[in-house]
Amino acid sequence: MSADLIAAHGSPLWLADAGAVREAYRQVEAAFRAAWDGPVEVAYSYKTNRTTAFLRALAQEGALAEVVCEAEYLLAREVVGVPGDAIVVNGPAKPPSLLARAAADDALVIFDGADEIDRAAAAGVRRAGLRVAVPGALGATSRFGIPEDRIPAAARRCRDLGMTVEALHTHLVSTDLDAPPDTSRPLAAGVRVLWPRPPDDHVAAAAMLARLAGRLAADGIAVRALDLGGGIPAPPATGDHARAVCDAIRAAGFTGTVTVEPGRALVAGAVDLLMSVVAVKRLADGRRVVIADAGTNLLPGALWGWPAIAAVAADGATEPALVSGPLCLNTDVLHPAAALPEGIAPGDTLVATRVGAYQQVQSTQFGDVRPAVLVRDGGPWTVARRRETVAELLGSEAAEVAANSGSPRQEVP
Ligand SMILES: Cc1ncc(COP(=O)(O)O)c(C=O)c1O
Repeated sequence: MSADLIAAHGSPLWLADAGAVREAYRQVEAAFRAAWDGPVEVAYSYKTNRTTAFLRALAQEGALAEVVCEAEYLLAREVVGVPGDAIVVNGPAKPPSLLARAAADDALVIFDGADEIDRAAAAGVRRAGLRVAVPGALGATSRFGIPEDRIPAAARRCRDLGMTVEALHTHLVSTDLDAPPDTSRPLAAGVRVLWPRPPDDHVAAAAMLARLAGRLAADGIAVRALDLGGGIPAPPATGDHARAVCDAIRAAGFTGTVTVEPGRALVAGAVDLLMSVVAVKRLADGRRVVIADAGTNLLPGALWGWPAIAAVAADGATEPALVSGPLCLNTDVLHPAAALPEGIAPGDTLVATRVGAYQQVQSTQFGDVRPAVLVRDGGPWTVARRRETVAELLGSEAAEVAANSGSPRQEVP
């Protein structure tokens, strides 16, 4: 079947299963509803994968939208039709236009730093959240959020400017550096992917938010929601996770809404990438190299953690193979030793599985044109995005557009 899909739509080829996303959403939501007696909100982290069929399916399931840039905001509002008050605006860089739009639509804006508060108030934002900084997975000081001891002052500032402090937020990062960045080595040397984080980290962060909410209540600021961010383990592990964090919140005396912002837990398992073997060779040291037509241009996450790669028709004995991509770069490696059939040959199909999170969205136009995306939502595969053409590759280059349309080139003033 994979070979037929490739014959029809080209290789490489993304397969994005919106039905699997719906199922993961239902399980995550059910896990938190079972664990928490009050209201529960699940806000999908748009940046993880913004395949439109996923966004629509999640909105139909009842998800809020958690966005970190204006493009994501407009996708939620104008393409998917999410009401403004069901959007959570997060992230460290919120340009004035995004703040103004969020204010007009009555979206919830989570402040990443105290200096944002006055700018947001001036833009008309009324619904405020405060992101509380927690150390990274490896203990380093986080660049995100406001230090815990400065939260009461930040909350008072919001109140004094006429905003409602609706939520205390935190997010436990799943990718961290083993030491703060410094000039002695490149950033990627220290990157570690740590997902899911140990349950105790989430429990400690949830309890910290609940205690802080108690402190703010004593100051007359009643927080409606605790927003626990993302990093949630994928089903079926979500049930134990939800129980542990909700128990901690309850024990600290909070009784309002629990909000979560899953990304990977909903989409990681819903996308595969099909690719074709283009060449097979032996290196001088005896290693076998299988060269595919997809590389780190499509799976940039391979630079942080090796994806699972298999041959679609995998009968018989296997032998480890270094899988590399088409970019003619030494770093274009998808796996150092995938177990691939001894007889694998050009034209055979490989599949990278569970690559739904932070891959399509971070893939680039470096190298060949971008592949087609097929989606299904309980039915057959349909084309969500066809394979790009070279004309589309150049489509937004002003000079090319002018040359092809016959209109004069625009002078840059
Ligand atoms: C604020 C915020 N919420 C949610 C998420 C989603 O995280 P995950 O995909 O690990 O669930 C992220 C990811 O970076 C984030 O920054």
